[in-house]
Amino acid sequence: MSLKGKHIVLGVSGSIAAYKAADVASKLVQAGAQVSVILTAAAQQFVTPLTFRSLTHRPVVTNWFDPGSDLSIQHVTLAETADALLVAPATADLMAKLAAGMADDPLTGTALATQAPLVLAPAMDAHMYEHPATQANLRTLTERGALLVGPEPGRLASGLIGMGRLAATEAILAAVSTALGRSGDLKGRTVVVSAGPTEEPLDPVRVITNRSSGKMGYAIAEAARDRGARVVLVTGPTALSKPWGIDVRGVHTTAEMLACVQASSGADALIMAAAPGDFRPETVAPDKIKKGPEATLTITLLKNPDILSAVSGFTVKAGFAAESRDLLDNARAKLTAKGLDFIVANDVAGDEPVFGSDLNKVTVLDAGGGVDDLPRMTKAELAGRILDRVVAALAGKERV
Ligand SMILES: Cc1cc2nc3c(=O)[nH]c(=O)nc-3n(C[C@H](O)[C@H](O)[C@H](O)COP(=O)(O)O)c2cc1C
Repeated sequence: MSLKGKHIVLGVSGSIAAYKAADVASKLVQAGAQVSVILTAAAQQFVTPLTFRSLTHRPVVTNWFDPGSDLSIQHVTLAETADALLVAPATADLMAKLAAGMADDPLTGTALATQAPLVLAPAMDAHMYEHPATQANLRTLTERGALLVGPEPGRLASGLIGMGRLAATEAILAAVSTALGRSGDLKGRTVVVSAGPTEEPLDPVRVITNRSSGKMGYAIAEAARDRGARVVLVTGPTALSKPWGIDVRGVHTTAEMLACVQASSGADALIMAAAPGDFRPETVAPDKIKKGPEATLTITLLKNPDILSAVSGFTVKAGFAAESRDLLDNARAKLTAKGLDFIVANDVAGDEPVFGSDLNKVTVLDAGGGVDDLPRMTKAELAGRILDRVVAALAGKERV
């Protein structure tokens, strides 16, 4: 779910990673959230309230009994108004207190009083993290519904390499969006999304591929996650980073993509936003093809199977048609031939770039004959429109 207008309470506890919480606060504000920060006493040894007051333009809570603090008058105010409570970084100590139900400072008190979802981003020394006490506390908290993001393996402040680094800011924000959208209109649904290009090998070093960046498919996958769906993202090679909270399955060839999509048969929806190659070389040379005296090289290409036509077992099937001419006619033919619920027609020969861009201009055609000519919008906005259609199509089929 979008963070815009949401009230996020950010608790910061006494980890050496507390300085990274300033970036988390800043990115939450940039995403349009209203951010209220609570610092534990230990956190204030690492970072100052001024940092967070400056970033959030809001008072920072440091002490329950401070007569100047709103919380001294109404000690559960933040708990009642929070849309989500995020603790980043969450120390071993803080999580032990939460697991035990303690409420001896503003952060633990708010955690106990709030009905809002709890997101924990632990950060600590690897041995502290692996300790059975910490692991038991984490289990208790996740069983109660807390969402964990990280920690990550890597170099720790101690100099050791191990598990315990605070998750990246992008992953933490994604976890908050996921927590906010847990009860969204795709709750309990499984959505399979394909994205990116495929690569058909020619020899050990060369491939035939296309210009798909994967941005559209990744945007749909993230939007579905943030509306409560379990998401499987089947992706060809892209430069995009692995989105948090999504089951990402990397493939190379169209045949691999087909097998991977079919393996998720039984899911509620399949949205094919990938650009799988239509052709593959008939033979893959075992060694690098050498330049000879000939002026030309002839490669015979075989047609690949069409994934959307080949797969079955999805309640709703939707596709994309990237066309450089006769856009709507070609798209309608594909919609019918592949038995889709709707198709997103994309003019890739227009003046504005589609591949790699953050924007897209499409027309959606549906099986009932509807034509929706959408204005140019971000791929994230378009992902929302596409998922609205998936939700409506699922509801329509279940009414029947
Ligand atoms: C330099 C230093 C770094 C620390 N880093 C961490 C850490 O990364 N994670 C952690 O769980 N505890 C860490 N601690 C220990 C906590 O600060 C300590 O458990 C404290 O009581 C936590 O209080 P709080 O959970 O109320 O913030 C560190 C302590 C020191 C002195």
